Amino acid sequence: MTPGQRRAIDELLEQYGIGGAQKLDFATLFPVNQPVTLEIGFGMGDSLLDMAIAFPARNFVGVEVHAPGVGHLLSRIEKADISNLKVIHGDVTGIIDRCPEGVFSQIQIFFPDPWHKKKHHKRRLINPGFLRRLLPLMREGGLLHVATDWEPYAESIVESFSGFPALSRCEAPWRPKTKYEGRGLRLGHRVSDLCYRKTMKALAMST
Ligand SMILES: C[S@@+](CC[C@H](N)C(=O)[O-])C[C@H]1O[C@@H](n2cnc3c(N)ncnc32)[C@H](O)[C@@H]1O
Repeated sequence: MTPGQRRAIDELLEQYGIGGAQKLDFATLFPVNQPVTLEIGFGMGDSLLDMAIAFPARNFVGVEVHAPGVGHLLSRIEKADISNLKVIHGDVTGIIDRCPEGVFSQIQIFFPDPWHKKKHHKRRLINPGFLRRLLPLMREGGLLHVATDWEPYAESIVESFSGFPALSRCEAPWRPKTKYEGRGLRLGHRVSDLCYRKTMKALAMST
């Protein structure tokens, strides 16, 4: 971690971050109560900041476990002087239970760690058990947008999603290019954007 990233965590997390262990109330966490997008694993966070600037009528929450990325994004939020983006430093699997149901209009996971080796596949973030916990946090009509440059992971994600009748595949919305994506493209990888809508019809079927 650079000294600047360390300083940002020490000095800016309180202002631009979300801490504590209590249930999160997204209606009061932001100056304006508007639709909330959750990004899981934002890396260095530059693309998340670009989105927050591009969509001032939406609020954004980024969760990242890697401290240097958290520090980097906090510094950039301070410079950009925006109030619709908050950062959580931590593992998303420990944060899900703090989020109320039906709160996110969009959840995005861009380039989750692919864990190439078969023996490491169990470490992949996106699997049916994780989706089962994540889906209740989405509001009806909300989008779940995943991007990956690793085709075998894309196939396994599509298979995982197919087990959820509440999700129907749809066209992916615009998103900025991410840092990890740039690396994949330089290596000649094909990028898959997988987007699903939590439909009311399917919800009615599953209740
Ligand atoms: C391959 S990187 C992609 C980063 C960024 N989205 C991009 O496209 O440049 C995956 C990121 O997910 C983060 N991550 C992995 N598991 C996580 C978890 N359980 N909770 C929060 N972040 C996680 C990693 O620390 C890493 O920064």
